[in-house]
Amino acid sequence: MRIICTTNNVGYSTIRWAMSIGCRTKEELKETVDTCLDCEGCQDLDRILNIGCSCENVPLSEIIQAVKDGADTVSEVSKRTDAANECGRCRPLVENVIEKKA
Ligand code: FES
Repeated sequence: MRIICTTNNVGYSTIRWAMSIGCRTKEELKETVDTCLDCEGCQDLDRILNIGCSCENVPLSEIIQAVKDGADTVSEVSKRTDAANECGRCRPLVENVIEKKA
């Protein structure tokens, strides 16, 4: 497991899970998964928070924009952005963006 927050031992996959249930800010991550926000690893949180689909290198902001522009299914987001076309690990995040519209 790749640890991001070394103070509280919070891994990358835990942070991605938190994003898939709606966390979009560092403060929300701190509240949900107890990232400290102060350690060296936490200095990378802004970058991680903008990863949408790592297979296709699609930023989260692009996925959010596609949803705001009317994409209301994962396949529609995939068509517009290329996200969620490979391994599928980003699918829960894309589903959450569609649900939250953000
Ligand atoms: S991370 Fe999006 S398809 Fe793999």
